[in-house]
Amino acid sequence: MDRDKIVELDKKYIWHPYTKMEQYINETNPVVVDRAEGFYLYDVDGTKYMDANGSWWTNIVGHNHPRLMEAIVNRTKSVVHCSFAGATHIEAVKLAERLLPICGKSFAKIFFSDDGSTAVEVAIRMARQYFVNTGRLNKKRFVTLGKAFHGETVGAASVSGVEVFHNAMDGLLFDTIKLPSPGEYLNSDNGEPWYRTAFSKAEEIIKSNSDEIAAVIMEPLVQGAAGMLMYPPEYIRQMKELCQENDILLICDEVFTGYGRTGTFLAHTQSGIEADIVCLAKGFSGGELPFAATITTSRVFDTFLGEPEKTLWYGHSFTGNPLGCAVQMQPLTYLKMKN
Ligand SMILES: Cc1ncc(COP(=O)(O)O)c(C=O)c1O
Repeated sequence: MDRDKIVELDKKYIWHPYTKMEQYINETNPVVVDRAEGFYLYDVDGTKYMDANGSWWTNIVGHNHPRLMEAIVNRTKSVVHCSFAGATHIEAVKLAERLLPICGKSFAKIFFSDDGSTAVEVAIRMARQYFVNTGRLNKKRFVTLGKAFHGETVGAASVSGVEVFHNAMDGLLFDTIKLPSPGEYLNSDNGEPWYRTAFSKAEEIIKSNSDEIAAVIMEPLVQGAAGMLMYPPEYIRQMKELCQENDILLICDEVFTGYGRTGTFLAHTQSGIEADIVCLAKGFSGGELPFAATITTSRVFDTFLGEPEKTLWYGHSFTGNPLGCAVQMQPLTYLKMKN
């Protein structure tokens, strides 16, 4: 099929993400990706493009890295997919054993899913049900940073704050408590660093609503989709202390910041603390397959044991996909990542 035919059929049948489709159909000459190598994508007409956004921040080691490709190919020879309830496989076990200690000493359990949004969705449900399982039913609200982005499923969108994505969903998303973004400004009007002012405001809001709050969710160090708004580790350390004092869980969404992107394996540990729940996706699979995880501590996990209603009744068809587990071991191994 030649290039013109591919574009013609694409415009006839396909609905693209985050795309003004009328403009796309009438004006856009899309890149028709033929192959990829390293930092580059190649159009079927031979044009070479630098993949400057790393295919939506997923591709952390370059396209088609031979070690990742080998892991995928090898895995296809045995099992490509199987359900993950009442069954397990060697790739998941190897990955969990290797990954959890790299993330931090408090992390004890890993729950697999498919992408950043589902990793956040799992975190929301874990946090809420932790309080149900421990008999504190009123703790059901989530606190988010202004300008946050945590994904597009209804739960993940509810804890996000990018208005343009959510206007049409008014009334469908659940209500959250919003804090000022600590990265929005450099300094406050009085010359003090803005993140300190933002924290003082956060402290006031959280303390006065603590009876209802289940968790604070944040993108640690960098709010990516907000336009790379940065703030220092001190804010995260103070937030963890505030959460501990008020019996609130801290969720760090490391979907964008994780996997060494900010210098350490996870960004939030630069603050010297460990979150209660962490979301991983994007670079987690080297950017080659849809694959994600939510990790947590024994303190959270143990409350899900016992009576059947304490179970986390949640999962997706492709949870724990063996190809995903196999491919994501590779960056861990050859980048020799440490926290
Ligand atoms: C911090 C963060 N969380 C979650 C997501 C959602 O990830 P996905 O697009 O894989 O669902 C994104 C996507 O950009 C993100 O930046």
